[in-house]
Amino acid sequence: MHVTHLSLADFRSYARAEVPLEQGVTAFVGPNGQGKTNLVEAVGYLATLGSHRVSSDAPLVRMGAERAVVRASVQQGERRQLVELELNPGKANRARINRSSQVRPRDVLGIVRTVLFAPEDLALVKGDPGERRRFLDELVTARSPRMAGVRSDYDRVLKQRNTLLKSAALARRHGGRSMDLSTLDVWDQHLARAGAELLARRLDLITALQPLADKAYEQLAPGGGPVALEYRPSSPGVVGHSREELYEQLITALGEARRQEIERGVTLVGPHRDELLLKLGRLPAKGYASHGESWSYALALRLASYDLLRAEGNEPVLVLDDVFAELDARRRERLAELVAPGEQVLVTAAVDDDVPGVLAGVRYAVSDGAVERV
Ligand SMILES: Nc1ncnc2c1ncn2[C@@H]1O[C@H](COP(=O)(O)OP(=O)(O)O)[C@@H](O)[C@H]1O
Ligand SMILES: [Mg+2]
Repeated sequence: MHVTHLSLADFRSYARAEVPLEQGVTAFVGPNGQGKTNLVEAVGYLATLGSHRVSSDAPLVRMGAERAVVRASVQQGERRQLVELELNPGKANRARINRSSQVRPRDVLGIVRTVLFAPEDLALVKGDPGERRRFLDELVTARSPRMAGVRSDYDRVLKQRNTLLKSAALARRHGGRSMDLSTLDVWDQHLARAGAELLARRLDLITALQPLADKAYEQLAPGGGPVALEYRPSSPGVVGHSREELYEQLITALGEARRQEIERGVTLVGPHRDELLLKLGRLPAKGYASHGESWSYALALRLASYDLLRAEGNEPVLVLDDVFAELDARRRERLAELVAPGEQVLVTAAVDDDVPGVLAGVRYAVSDGAVERV
């Protein structure tokens, strides 16, 4: 798929922006702070309902405005769709498809798909486990948009279960009557059901991603691998592959953890506590890999994501936000060659020289909120 038109209202620094787009490569070039990333961030938002830079919507709305609107015309084969998201920080966001009446924001997932490379990706390798879980879950959702519903069910159940555990912990500490915990069993079942579904998808994803990540790393840094992706569940007993197995194992693990959970007042078992271990050779990348190796690893994960989505018939838009300036000449050329054939590639760079030659295409100059074709 590719985006044929992007339109913004009160998004980030843009009061308005209308940007026609084509297949192939488009580069947005301009000095820092001019609004290049803001443009591609908007495309990424349509694909994930989130930003790769911030965890809340508030900074995405232009300072002084109440709401932001991001709209895109999307071409998928013969089919053309118009998607629109209205961001209302502190209130429910709204969404529309083809100007018809409102749908839930998560119903637009799957219309725009992206794989986004950004300087922030280094945190995939060096950052907290939450970064890697988000990587997995965004890709799980890109492969299967209905998983957005499962993720939000899981988050909701987890929150409610934690609230219950917290009050149980408080009651215990203050020597009050111990709480009636029979409702906890019901929450265990809800948590295990959504959790097992999410886990099964994550495990399936890792199996599919592993050989692609290894291949991509070899292309970027020949002889530097191998890379291995290992899933580390928060509870060692949760090792199944089918949803049914995982459900039973989660129920058992929750039972075993219950006393400790009531003491601490928080859910200790489940996909929200799991870790994706990234190995380079025999060592974990985190804490051991060099800066350059970590970069290659992050890029390899993104390239593998791209290969996977494409192989499954969901060709995404590739977004490369300011990544070439971070790379040495060799990896820059390799990355550029690997992404050049993409159906649509959006690149941002501070200067023309940062855009590798094989990525010749349409250029826009971005300066002071104006986006002009050059
Ligand atoms: N919500 C907002 N309202 C107004 N301006 C914003 C908002 N968010 C970011 N900006 C401005 O956008 C600019 C950064 O744009 P960005 O696209 O990241 O730049 P770059 O071209 O370097 O990628 C900054 O000047 C920042 O002040
Ligand atoms: Mg930028």
